[in-house]
Amino acid sequence: MGGNTFGVLFRVTTWGESHGEAVGAVVDGCPPNLELAEEDIQQELNRRKPGRGQGASPREESDRVEILSGVFQGKTTGTPISLLIRNRDRKSSDYDALAGLFRPGHGDFTYLKKYGIRDPRGGGRASGRETAARVAAGAVARKVIAGAGIKVLGFTVELGGVTIEEGSRGDIRENSLLCPDARAAEKMIDRLEAARREGDSLGGIVEIRVSGCPAGLGEPVFDKIDADLAKAVMSIGSVKGVEIGAGFRAASMKGSENNDPIVPGGFKTNHAGGILAGITSGEEIVIRAACKPIPSIAKEQDTIDLHGNPRKIAVRGRHDVCVIPRVIPVCEAMVCMVLADHLLRQRAIS
Ligand SMILES: Cc1cc2nc3c(=O)[nH]c(=O)nc-3n(C[C@H](O)[C@H](O)[C@H](O)COP(=O)(O)O)c2cc1C
Repeated sequence: MGGNTFGVLFRVTTWGESHGEAVGAVVDGCPPNLELAEEDIQQELNRRKPGRGQGASPREESDRVEILSGVFQGKTTGTPISLLIRNRDRKSSDYDALAGLFRPGHGDFTYLKKYGIRDPRGGGRASGRETAARVAAGAVARKVIAGAGIKVLGFTVELGGVTIEEGSRGDIRENSLLCPDARAAEKMIDRLEAARREGDSLGGIVEIRVSGCPAGLGEPVFDKIDADLAKAVMSIGSVKGVEIGAGFRAASMKGSENNDPIVPGGFKTNHAGGILAGITSGEEIVIRAACKPIPSIAKEQDTIDLHGNPRKIAVRGRHDVCVIPRVIPVCEAMVCMVLADHLLRQRAIS
């Protein structure tokens, strides 16, 4: 299976399936002499675990990371860093009833079309479980960019049709949805509970902000940093749209409204979301990811079996109701990887 590696100088390969022995990542190109402990990675993994937030499934993935290579006496050596996370709470029997059916909205149908073989236990590589490996690798990338003063933070701006009030700046640690608008968070939680009772699921929008990023990162043509960010975030299961800065709103603005006037102290506004012509401007980078509702739902739906016969399906396993908030550390991880890659590429030419 191709396409398991991401990045040019800071390269991440993820491997493993949801119901196999383990998932993991190999990070190649990480600079040497960087302090790195399992605990640095564990902190990030704990934020992605199931059971976090009202939308989460009751699965108990212990998600303990082991660093197998590339670190000596707490410092990176410059050799490939291999990260392993064992799959401890597998319950493959949950999938017995689904083995001959395709879950609407999931990758079951397309995986079989592509490979002619499908592991029906969990979603295989299409499972949210694969993102544990991304979060582990992203923690290494975060260390690389932290050295340059770059910080990445994600939060919830919409869930189940409830949107935060524009400019909300509340403490995202005060609610389980990492939402800066406490009142909106309460409504979101109500919607989640209602969806759970109905055997349904919900989608939402996550915003990721990058502060402290210097101007000049990114390549001007095919590897524009906004193009790489869009690919990185869109490669996460459930993400169906990515916006940078004003995003889709820019299409209905006039040039005089959308341009960010330049003054001696910098830019007056930031509709560009910190990126111009594929290169960072030094302003805050603003990315939004629209996530679809979780496909595996208990509500009955139409599908077909392996022979094309019409069937009904109701998915009973332990599934999330919404990818938010668990997708937030995954989005952050992918953004950290892109920034680490472009930081190293910029250092290589300057
Ligand atoms: C952190 C995370 C957790 C997820 N949990 C589930 C889940 O419990 N059940 C499910 O059906 N899909 C889950 N998904 C979504 C599927 O992985 C995704 O919808 C599927 O791979 C199909 O890909 P697509 O949505 O990009 O089309 C999760 C995704 C992420 C990122």
